[in-house]
Amino acid sequence: MGEYNEINDFKEVLFTREQIADMTKSLGKKITQDFSEKDLMVMGLLKGSIVFMADLLREIKLPCVLDFMAVSSYGNGTESQGRVQILKDISESVLGKDVLIVEDIIDSGVTLNFIVNHLKNKGAKSVTLCTLINKPERRKKEVDVKYIGADIPNEFIAGYGMDYAERYRNLPFIGVLKEEIYS
Ligand code: IMP
Ligand code: MG
Repeated sequence: MGEYNEINDFKEVLFTREQIADMTKSLGKKITQDFSEKDLMVMGLLKGSIVFMADLLREIKLPCVLDFMAVSSYGNGTESQGRVQILKDISESVLGKDVLIVEDIIDSGVTLNFIVNHLKNKGAKSVTLCTLINKPERRKKEVDVKYIGADIPNEFIAGYGMDYAERYRNLPFIGVLKEEIYS
């Protein structure tokens, strides 16, 4: 990982590219088994989930349609603002669909709690959550997450789609940022 300059902004690497690939494969395998009889729509949350979603999709060996939503609750800080704003809504119909929401990380749960209700109100038949990373300590709103790549303690991480102030999304690993980067 020495070829990435930004490695110096990290205190520690939590998951390497290889570890993430293993997590993604095993999630994809479970999803493939569980959704074989369903009408699957994979719904990614922009922008953080795109890297994970792109890899996960290729481990889901089933017919499916894709869609995206973009919401904002963070601004440029590291704490959820508690209010969710829709920046981009779904463009396909979710009526009768079994929607699998793909997230990079669940922290307070505020974002997903809102989106699950939003999709149910739009007529989704079922809504299931998949996140690569989960921070269970920080939950403020209850969310039922069926597929979790890994639980981590309360630390601010970046890489593999996840950002701080829009940076680090392109890094292939996930690491804990040094506090001096965001304070
Ligand atoms: P929640 O509504 O607090 O659960 O926030 C979920 C969203 O916040 C995720 O989709 C991420 O975009 C962002 N987020 C939460 N924790 C982190 C982190 O440690 N690093 C980068 N983004 C994070
Ligand atoms: Mg996000």
